[in-house]
Amino acid sequence: MSDVASTFRDQYGRDPEGLWAAPGRVNLIGEHTDYNDGFVLPFALPMRVVAAAARADAGWQVRSDLEDEQASFESAGEPGTISGWAAYVAGVVWALRDAGYEVPPADLAITSDVPLGAGVSSSAALESAVLTALIDLGELEIPVAERPALAQRAENVYVGAPTGIMDQSASIRCEAGQALFLDCRSQEVEQIPFDVAAEGLAVLVVNSNAPHKHVDGEYGARRKSCEEAARLLGVPALRDVAADGLDVALERLDDDVTRRRVRHVVTENQRVLDTVELLRSGRIREIGPLMTASHASMRDDFEITVPEVDVAVEAALTAGAYGARMTGGGFGGCVLALIDADRADATAAAVADAYAKHGFTAPTPFVAVPSQGATRL
Ligand code: GLA
Repeated sequence: MSDVASTFRDQYGRDPEGLWAAPGRVNLIGEHTDYNDGFVLPFALPMRVVAAAARADAGWQVRSDLEDEQASFESAGEPGTISGWAAYVAGVVWALRDAGYEVPPADLAITSDVPLGAGVSSSAALESAVLTALIDLGELEIPVAERPALAQRAENVYVGAPTGIMDQSASIRCEAGQALFLDCRSQEVEQIPFDVAAEGLAVLVVNSNAPHKHVDGEYGARRKSCEEAARLLGVPALRDVAADGLDVALERLDDDVTRRRVRHVVTENQRVLDTVELLRSGRIREIGPLMTASHASMRDDFEITVPEVDVAVEAALTAGAYGARMTGGGFGGCVLALIDADRADATAAAVADAYAKHGFTAPTPFVAVPSQGATRL
């Protein structure tokens, strides 16, 4: 990652007032449950966006070495005014202002080592780093619990992506060594100890490197069918269908696709709760089968996986993983595998072999350590 403080100095001819970092995330379990008011269990990655920033006289200037580009705007305007990567920055300025805060004009320089297009929330990391920097620079009093919703509005309304609140919550509220158990309805969180290394375990993340296709359209379509199903079932959100009421609910739906979408969300919420129970009692290995069941549910019922991620999951399991699943919105992205720590290289090699046999572009593996959420450095 580049030295963003010196980029700032080169660009603006003075020192930044500070550096703020916000990480990407992986989700241990709980996929497509956030916009159904359900439960998720992400943890922060060590990869992060770092913003060097200082107050300015007027407007906002941003230098990004992600795109080796610069953008400046006098006002974020209304949603849609600024496009491209700078929309994430302008969106945060807009969301803060729209919520009634006086946003300090600022100069920013941004760098990142969060992989792009890998389904590990590089955009939420960017929003969260900028948000945290602007809050501190403006001495705005915004409780941490209220911050993810501001970053989410930047993404939903300004950028125009209909995502839930998991990614921004993870980037802002995760803590090192913990997974974040988030109730997406109440926004209540519980930090769940997830010290895999102490158990001789590791989480291997494999970026499938599958080309992200149809992501936006398919994501929106899944969200719509969940909302429509909740309407048909007469509940505010699918969160309100309990696991033991699932069969009764399914009988009330005519359409097989809708039934499968509902089954995914309801069973996935229960898997999050079961995972949290196991982790609370220190039974980390036992979450493996829940991870694998989550993957099957995403593949067969929610239909958001692609051959590359299915192959990676199968190969990891065959290589001895306790459990494996795709993480994130789907249609590519990363796979997580819970493995014995000394099996990381062997598991990564097994996935790479399977990829070669299928003629897929080679995957990129790394071991993920649960890391700190957004912070001033
Ligand atoms: C994307 C979205 C999240 C969440 C996941 C699926 O990452 O940004 O809000 O819906 O997909 O769990």
